[in-house]
Amino acid sequence: TPWWPGVILGYRDRVAVPDGAHVVSLQEGGTPLVHAPHLSELTGCEVHLKVEGANPTGSFKDRGMAVAMTHARAAGSQAVICASTGNTSASASAYATRAGMTSAVLVPQGKIALGKLAQAVIHGARILQVQGNFDDCLELARKTSAEFPVTLVNSVNAVRIEGQKTAAFEVCDGLGRAPDVHCMPVGNAGNITAYWKGYEEYARDGVVDSRPVLFGFQAAGAAPLVRGEPVLSPETVATAIRVGNPASWHGAIEAKDASGGLFSAVEDEQILSAYRLLAAREGVFVEPGSAASVAGLLATSADGRLGTGKVVVCTVTGHGLKDPDTALAGMVEIEPLPVDPNAVASALELA
Ligand code: F0G
Repeated sequence: TPWWPGVILGYRDRVAVPDGAHVVSLQEGGTPLVHAPHLSELTGCEVHLKVEGANPTGSFKDRGMAVAMTHARAAGSQAVICASTGNTSASASAYATRAGMTSAVLVPQGKIALGKLAQAVIHGARILQVQGNFDDCLELARKTSAEFPVTLVNSVNAVRIEGQKTAAFEVCDGLGRAPDVHCMPVGNAGNITAYWKGYEEYARDGVVDSRPVLFGFQAAGAAPLVRGEPVLSPETVATAIRVGNPASWHGAIEAKDASGGLFSAVEDEQILSAYRLLAAREGVFVEPGSAASVAGLLATSADGRLGTGKVVVCTVTGHGLKDPDTALAGMVEIEPLPVDPNAVASALELA
């Protein structure tokens, strides 16, 4: 057996799959929990990053997709469908391939990052670009799966949550305790629901003796949970979390209230500056949506809501390579160099 067998076999006593099911896995999970010295210094807390971009398709979605696809295959399903801002579709495409199934992905036209589209293409998904936003895509996917023989693998499918809760187990296993505060980006709200379920299970069973406070951050232009009502035309540079009417609304409220946490909105400029800071100061390249957790960490540190001396985990949900356009925006053109050591030295101002 490999050192890390994936979330289903890695947490086999806590993640249920049908008896005798063939486990569909790309050895997802087991991701780094990286100490963040610069963020720790800035906040006066002990800050760690749960680097979910290190999953097989570059986002946390793989945890849930392994479980969803294992169930779908065991049920004899031959096709899956999902709505997505990009990462769910990338994961569904890869795991469907792994399971020997076909996949159809509904994505909002022009609003998905290039790398995510590339993933769906290369794994052979049927890609449907919908003239609408994520919320429209999800409604279409739900209706289609209700009427036709295709399995819905969005997080409204409860087994997705079962897979994603394993990230909370890993955080506790890595720290040897539960954190005091857990910061995360919130879009469709499946992940905050899943983390809370994971933390609850570990605390209930005495694996850890406390539960963290959950801080959920949304982009200011797509912040239905902060405003308390759906947003009809969500807009943000962080396309991953461009969601106006989260499916797991209730689960998110429960996670916030039961943990004594909060929802808060962060502006796109705050997201982009956290995005650059993570890459430039911590060496961790994430996609903009992921940086919402760190933007929120810094904002709540500045206004006192975070406090000091806390053990804090920020989930950074997806890899920076997913969205090369945002990374390269504003880049100045690089002058070509002759094959000449003197030219290198002078370009680097060494001579
Ligand atoms: N971060 C990233 C990188 C995401 O892709 C998503 C969701 C989230 C955070 C928010 O997680 O929806 O569970 O609250 N992406 C979905 C998708 C909507 O289609 O890939 P959530």
